[in-house]
Amino acid sequence: MANLDLPVIPEHVAIIMDGNGRWAKQRGLPRTIGHNKGVETVRETVRAAGEAGVKYLTLFAFSSENWSRPESEVEDLLGLLRRFIRRDLADLHRENIRIRIIGERENLRSDILPLLLEAEETTRNNTAMTLVIAFNYGSRNEIARAVAKIAKEVQAGSIKPDEVSPEMISERLDTADIPDPDLIIRTSGEERLSNFLLWQAAYSEFVFLPCYWPDFDRQQFHDALRIFASRDRRFGGLSQLTTTAVVG
Ligand code: IPE
Ligand code: IPE
Ligand code: MG
Repeated sequence: MANLDLPVIPEHVAIIMDGNGRWAKQRGLPRTIGHNKGVETVRETVRAAGEAGVKYLTLFAFSSENWSRPESEVEDLLGLLRRFIRRDLADLHRENIRIRIIGERENLRSDILPLLLEAEETTRNNTAMTLVIAFNYGSRNEIARAVAKIAKEVQAGSIKPDEVSPEMISERLDTADIPDPDLIIRTSGEERLSNFLLWQAAYSEFVFLPCYWPDFDRQQFHDALRIFASRDRRFGGLSQLTTTAVVG
């Protein structure tokens, strides 16, 4: 792909797609137009991520807190997700993309859950890239559900309380078997996680971009990848550069 010659590409990029409403407001348009435009950005971003060699792309589509928005906006967002899956599933499958859904499934509406399950089932053996859609997702809820699973296992006697480890918690999160995100991008200028991947973000690199999600494009995605490639990830240790300097 043109103009992208980087020494390292993140295996897993997670994106907090924010700013649809403000994008629309800036243009005197209803928020729903911003959400529609945001779906086009999703399509472009999935393509750009695959072409860049990203193996896991997680998109924060709807948070467990987003239910508190006005009912009409919630309906717009759910409608967009339904249409996205109906219209794009065949294309994604053809492009060998595996879909995974993370988030609370309990009590999910009957017009949503079967579609999500179908998307996962249809694409389960695909290998080009995994597209993780965070829907009805809240990190604290996810962690609480993982802890509840462990509590049940302790109660059943299959594990002892002092055996509980970080790995055991990771394995019981919705993201079990998905590597932690290397890079988290948030658009719209906000610099917060808003209950997204709190546990998994322990050593993620963050890139906050001022643009609203509908204006995010391939160029900005590549900029974020470039910023990532320039970061020195130390994971609590010493950087490669420091180590080399000391040894050499
Ligand atoms: C992101 O845009 C879409 C979702 C959260 C579902 P917003 O709707 O949050 O747009 P702003 O942040 O109000 O501009
Ligand atoms: C985070 O954006 C959720 C999604 C992108 C789906 P919000 O717009 O809901 O977050 P806050 O309210 O600004 O923290
Ligand atoms: Mg927002």
